[in-house]
Amino acid sequence: MADPIVSVSRRLADAFSAVAGMPVDPVVRPSDRADAQANGALAIAKAMGAQPREVAQKALDAAGDLSDILQSTEIAGPGFINLVFSDEFIAQQLTLAMADATLGVRVSPDPHTVVIDYSAPNVAKEMHVGHLRSTVIGDALVRVLEFVGNTVVRENHIGDWGTPFGMLIEHLIDLGEENAAHELGVGDLDGFYKQARSKFEASDEFKTRARTRVVMLQSGDDDTMRLWHTLVKESTRYFNKVYTQLDVLLTDDDLMGESAYNPLLSVVVDRLRDGGLLVESDGAEVVFPEGFTNRENEPLPLIIRKGDGGYNYATSDLGCVIDRVERVGARTVLYVVGAPQAQHLQMVEAVARMAGWMPEGYVMNHVSFGSVLGSDRKILKSRAGETVKLAALLDEAVVRAEAAVAEKNPEMSEADRSDVANMIGIGAVKYSDLSTDRVKDYIFDWERMLSFEGNTAPYLQYAHARICSIFRRAEVSRASVRAITPSLAESQERALALRILRFDSAVWEMIDTLSPHKLCTYLFDLATDFTAFYEHCPVLKAGHEDTRESRLALCDATARVMEQGLSLLGIRSPEQM
Ligand code: ARG
Repeated sequence: MADPIVSVSRRLADAFSAVAGMPVDPVVRPSDRADAQANGALAIAKAMGAQPREVAQKALDAAGDLSDILQSTEIAGPGFINLVFSDEFIAQQLTLAMADATLGVRVSPDPHTVVIDYSAPNVAKEMHVGHLRSTVIGDALVRVLEFVGNTVVRENHIGDWGTPFGMLIEHLIDLGEENAAHELGVGDLDGFYKQARSKFEASDEFKTRARTRVVMLQSGDDDTMRLWHTLVKESTRYFNKVYTQLDVLLTDDDLMGESAYNPLLSVVVDRLRDGGLLVESDGAEVVFPEGFTNRENEPLPLIIRKGDGGYNYATSDLGCVIDRVERVGARTVLYVVGAPQAQHLQMVEAVARMAGWMPEGYVMNHVSFGSVLGSDRKILKSRAGETVKLAALLDEAVVRAEAAVAEKNPEMSEADRSDVANMIGIGAVKYSDLSTDRVKDYIFDWERMLSFEGNTAPYLQYAHARICSIFRRAEVSRASVRAITPSLAESQERALALRILRFDSAVWEMIDTLSPHKLCTYLFDLATDFTAFYEHCPVLKAGHEDTRESRLALCDATARVMEQGLSLLGIRSPEQM
């Protein structure tokens, strides 16, 4: 069971390889002229010194009888092979896919443990839109990698350690623990941080206290640890509020902050020293990974231990690699972190590889992303020019969605409306983030993301809700049409069926490129094909009972793939809108 394009590609791969005398890719792609096109002959012909059209013919001869899948094959142009699937094959594959727990998506041939490092806000600092991106993209990757059979371990690498905690703890003492806890718990993290910072800058006495406090923290002084713990607890309480609002999978069990790696810091140093990788440079202990230079073209060090004996962000990230590979058992580690940390992560990987902590065949991948911009194309800021608070942004999304729903469906009860608005508002924010290529910046635009037209969450959710309403009106249960093999007489029916079967490839493209927008584009195409089908092929008013049932089966299959696809992106599908 697989996307028909994958099925035919497998058959042709054998044929082309037999002709070429070595394994070759038949290069089968969807096509406008037929259902698909195999372009492999062109590349092999060159290598074989033969005519591409001849090679194509030989490959077809070698493939033998393909009539169980294809209705026709035709060699065209310089040597493409146009492929048209048989209607029976499409219909039969659709029935199989719909009986499958993954709706026809291939499970992983190599399931393994994957750690995904995402979200990772910093204690006593506001979560900003960069954390929105990491959280939403990471959440989608977790869901999709689990869906195909991997064991996914979520790790929220919060910033909960380092020198700022000296001043933060002293500020907490000044405020009184209860007041401080309240301020943090209600989410005034930035205010808290800024006050601490300005005291630190203004007062030498405070500075000294803060520095002494860092030393106490590092030596594990009981009272200091307790105060530190309050900071972490109150901040994570606030993060959890945002996670609930955002409807993502993260929980307290996924917290693996920087501090969790403290016991490994000396291990990192010892192992690097034993391996002969640690060198002294300007009083610090560093590693020089190959291939990294500064502007002056001098080798760039990764600082492991500073002159004052303190460890670095990089040191805890190295401990983190050891932990993920050796304790968690990960073979793939994904870092969903903004583009500015690219070099840091590259250097950490380089050192981990030199040290043998990331063995060959193990993957460490930076899932990088661009910035969220305002309409002025600058980093998104609030009207007052401050960083946008995530919680406020999400509240606004729901309020705006509620207004949109009230307009579209004034009859809906208030309770339903509030549920639906929540799914649409949060869905819209997530989808606008996920649907653009993650490496690019995108413009945060309320109007566009909440529009019921175009490549938006509401448009996709609406396609799903519309199908639910067709079944409500017909008073037919969705499950009752599931065993029906549809007839594909109309071109829109056939196109829709073929699109549904391509869900498999769409999911795998998202996985192979770690790019959620691939799945978004697919779901948008699915909704578009459904709209065309629904306009041309009456469902409830279909003349014949068989036609009606067949079309209802197509509707149900569309809705199931839409709901599953959106759910892999972390977006809910209301049954009415
Ligand atoms: N807390 C960091 C930040 O807000 C991100 C941490 C990313 N993960 C990691 N293993 N370094 O920038």
